[in-house]
Amino acid sequence: MNEKETKGIFVTFEGIDGSGKSTQANSLLRRVQENGFNAVLFREPGGTRISEQIRQILLNTKHTEMVAITEVLLYSAARAQLTEEMVIPGLHENDIVICDRYYDSTTAYQGYGRGINMEFINALTSEAANRIEPDLTFLVDVSVDLAEKRSSTIGKRDRIELESIEFKKKVIEGFREIAENNPNRIVILDGSEDIEQLTDIAWNKIHTLLEKEGIEIAPEGNSESI
Ligand code: TMP
Repeated sequence: MNEKETKGIFVTFEGIDGSGKSTQANSLLRRVQENGFNAVLFREPGGTRISEQIRQILLNTKHTEMVAITEVLLYSAARAQLTEEMVIPGLHENDIVICDRYYDSTTAYQGYGRGINMEFINALTSEAANRIEPDLTFLVDVSVDLAEKRSSTIGKRDRIELESIEFKKKVIEGFREIAENNPNRIVILDGSEDIEQLTDIAWNKIHTLLEKEGIEIAPEGNSESI
C-alpha cells in the first residue's frame, strides 16, 4: 500500500483455481481476528454491488463468445469499484485488509494465460487499483494435477475453470514468474501442505509486518491469545 496515511496493511492471496487459496484466506482472517486485530476479507472479482454483477457476467459459462479484451476490462472494472468502495476505506478503518485475488490474477490469467500485452495489462491494473499495491501477497502454489483434482470435487465449474489444461499451466507458470519478479512482496506457500501449517507461516509473516508498521491491538482487542 502506498498511501501511508492509511492505517492498515493490505494482504492478498493468489493462485490457480483449486489451489486452496480461498480456504487459506478465510483461515488467516480467523487467525488475525483471534489475535485481536481488526480485519476484513474481500473476494475478486466481487465485494461490491457492481463488482458482484460484473462477476456474474465474467463467470457465466454461457458467455463463450467473450473476447480477451472484454475480459480484462471487466476484471479491471470490478477491481476499480472494489478498490474505491471497500479496499481504501477498509485500510483506513482496519488493521488488515485481505483480498482473495487482486491484480496479480489479471497478470497471470489475462497476461500469461490469454497473452494480452503486458505493458497494457500493467498500465490498466495500476489505474484500476488506483496505484495501491499489496504490502504482502501469498501465492498458494500447486501443480495443475492437484488443482484439477480439487476443482473436480467442488462441482459446477465457472467459465474460467472450464479452460484447457494448457491455459491453466500457463497461468501457474505466470504466477511463479510474477513471484520471482517480486521477491519482497510475494511469499510462496506450498498448497499441497496442511491448511493450519500454512496459516502459521502466513500469520508469522503478517505479525512481523504489523510490528514493523507499529500496528498494535486496539484496547478492545483480545490480547490474551497473542
Ligand atoms: P475465484 O474462483 O477465485 O473467485 O475467481 C474467479 C475466477 O476469475 C477464477 O477462475 C480466476 C479468474 N480471474 C481472472 O481470470 N482474472 C482476474 O483478474 C481475477 C481477479 C480472477
